[in-house]
Amino acid sequence: MGSAVNYIYILSGALFVLSLKWMNTPATARRGVFAGELGMLMAVGGTLVGHHNNWEWILAAFFIGTAVGIPIAYIMPMTAVPQRTAMSHACGALAAALVGTAEFYQRQPNADTELHGFVMVALIVETLLGFLTFTGSLMAMGKLQEVLPSRPITYRNQNLINFALFAIALGLGIRLILVPTDTFLFPIFAGLALVFGVLLIIPIGGADMPTVIALLNSYAGLSACAMGFALDNQLLVIAGALDGSSGLILSIIMCKAMNRSFTNVLFGAFGQLQAAKGKTEQRPVRSASAEEAASILEAASSVIIVPGYGLAVAQAQHKIRELFDTLTRRGVDVKFAIHPVAGRMPGHMNVLLAEADIPYDRLFEMDDINSEFAQCDVALVIGANDVTNPAARNDKSSPIYGMPILDVDKARTVMVIKRSMSPGFAGIDNDLYYMNRTLMLFGDAKAFVSEILKELPVRVGA
Ligand code: TAP
Repeated sequence: MGSAVNYIYILSGALFVLSLKWMNTPATARRGVFAGELGMLMAVGGTLVGHHNNWEWILAAFFIGTAVGIPIAYIMPMTAVPQRTAMSHACGALAAALVGTAEFYQRQPNADTELHGFVMVALIVETLLGFLTFTGSLMAMGKLQEVLPSRPITYRNQNLINFALFAIALGLGIRLILVPTDTFLFPIFAGLALVFGVLLIIPIGGADMPTVIALLNSYAGLSACAMGFALDNQLLVIAGALDGSSGLILSIIMCKAMNRSFTNVLFGAFGQLQAAKGKTEQRPVRSASAEEAASILEAASSVIIVPGYGLAVAQAQHKIRELFDTLTRRGVDVKFAIHPVAGRMPGHMNVLLAEADIPYDRLFEMDDINSEFAQCDVALVIGANDVTNPAARNDKSSPIYGMPILDVDKARTVMVIKRSMSPGFAGIDNDLYYMNRTLMLFGDAKAFVSEILKELPVRVGA
């Protein structure tokens, strides 16, 4: 049985690697999700058959987990996916921390032989990361769901206090590695890790939570990897390492796309900057009606649609699909320009547009489409703001200076659908809106696109 389980583990590990590879592009993402699910099913099945016999507990946990998980997956709206992801990380990290805690106490009677150096290092890493990720993820979820204040909560010497607390927790962990029988230290160590998770997240603004969640994902993965070493389970080591490294790579990609450093995201209290810069200027802009917008689109031969966070808020993806179909039937070349941090979570725009079945070959990454804006007739910005702000290129004093942007301002005509002149996530004005060739289309994205569609009757037989 043992060797059969090992083969199952190797297959599961391979499926996890393929899953990550396939999830790299929208065209194969569904296959990637399926491969990941199959790998996990095989991993869980193999472990249960190979190592367990207390089925009543396992089945009880299975039914409770399923009864909670399935409704949550259906009820949660797309815009709440970041907080749902945070919740999953909280649960995964808590599971890893509790397994580590159970192992620590269970092996105490034979501590001399069973809790030797390497196993204790693995258990301490597992529980430290597991507990701090648990409370950190809960805080991230609370901020995103706005049950907790989403602004950064800061106080004097905050970083110093946080580091001191972490250093004490680490010191206790090292003491436990050296003297595992000092069991009275373990609850203090675990308590400090839990408190550190809270303190780590409260100074970070709610809008930075997606990046933080990717980082917490990485911690939860590393905790699971350490658990694999503690339990001598190779698949946990593989899956945890994949999770840990992909979470880290993702957060690095997100930081790069925002031109922010890790330290700025974690310790920069970015939301405070937003509040301070929240005012927009009173300069004249040109606005247009749906009818005018429709006639401009009708006359265009190439249109690049730039979706952003407002599209997710308005849930306008299906209407945009209708607009895409209508314009394409009229012979207009329509493309979508995807900025890596448009929206509020990685791949946000890809997921929304895929939900509306917009063909993948019409979606273009920033680097692939930027050179085309100068030749396109119309850039239609739908609920995007910061990712189109030329200040990122031109204004050294801007908080987003250096962030790569979509070169929307180079298009012959720019039309922007948004409800008001309010700023986006970075809290700053957008020069794009004041350009001579920009038309503001004020309104909710879904409602405005519907209005445009009414003005663009489908051509029969076209
Ligand atoms: P934002 O700059 O946040 O702008 C979104 C715009 O959508 C707002 O200006 C808002 O203007 C408009 N809007 C909101 N609801 C709308 C509705 N119902 N209909 C039409 N418009 C609506 O979004 P973006 O351009 O996508 O940029 C993303 C920002 O988030 C970047 O600054 C990025 O750094 C940050 N960020 C992204 C991520 C990831 S992974 N995507 C993670 C962390 C931070 P009105 O209120 O006037 O309508």
